[in-house]
Amino acid sequence: MASLTLRAAALAAIALVRVGVRATTIELPPCLDPFQPFIYSGCYADTGNPHALSLRSQLDQQDMTIEKCVSVCKGNGFRYAGLEYYGVCYCGNTVNGQQIDEEQCNYPCTGNSSQVCGGTDIISVYQDPTFLPVDEVTVADYDHLGCWTDDSEYGRALAYPQDQLDGSTLTTEKCLQACRDGGYPFAGTEFGGK
Ligand SMILES: *[C@@H]1O[C@H](CO)[C@@H](O)[C@H](O)[C@H]1NC(C)=O
Repeated sequence: MASLTLRAAALAAIALVRVGVRATTIELPPCLDPFQPFIYSGCYADTGNPHALSLRSQLDQQDMTIEKCVSVCKGNGFRYAGLEYYGVCYCGNTVNGQQIDEEQCNYPCTGNSSQVCGGTDIISVYQDPTFLPVDEVTVADYDHLGCWTDDSEYGRALAYPQDQLDGSTLTTEKCLQACRDGGYPFAGTEFGGK
């Protein structure tokens, strides 16, 4: 995940100076439709390498609430939403960190001081209850959804390349297994071996 985050950051930096270069991951808007509320999952350490949750949202951290962070993670199809350091919002499909004592999550949120937004290198994590628990998901649970275009002005159809897989021996099953292990609800193959 660290290398993916770095790659996304590098691509974003290039995009600033070279017009026309596309970033792989484009943050979609928050979900505006009503949806089943996320459930609090616990207080976790975030060592930052890799981050506990993979996507750092570009939402304004000076005016953050649990509702805002959860909505952007829902809008981007993530399993988890997390709030850290008064109002930095993260989204992810796995939590890469140790659960720690509840009292260590004690910073008020910038947009609603009655809510808790983690701590320093500590993140308050919420979970979308509409996802099956990761342990119960198998490759057989993925349905074929058809053939889609990729890499438009809206970014990649699926944002996280699984570059740890060897393209020359790729199979559908290997792709599904990697995406299942990463907690991703969608998987896709293209270009003969990506
Ligand atoms: C602030 O958060 C508390 C606790 O979640 C909630 O009850 C309250 O409605 C929120 N206030 C606003 C203005 O949204």
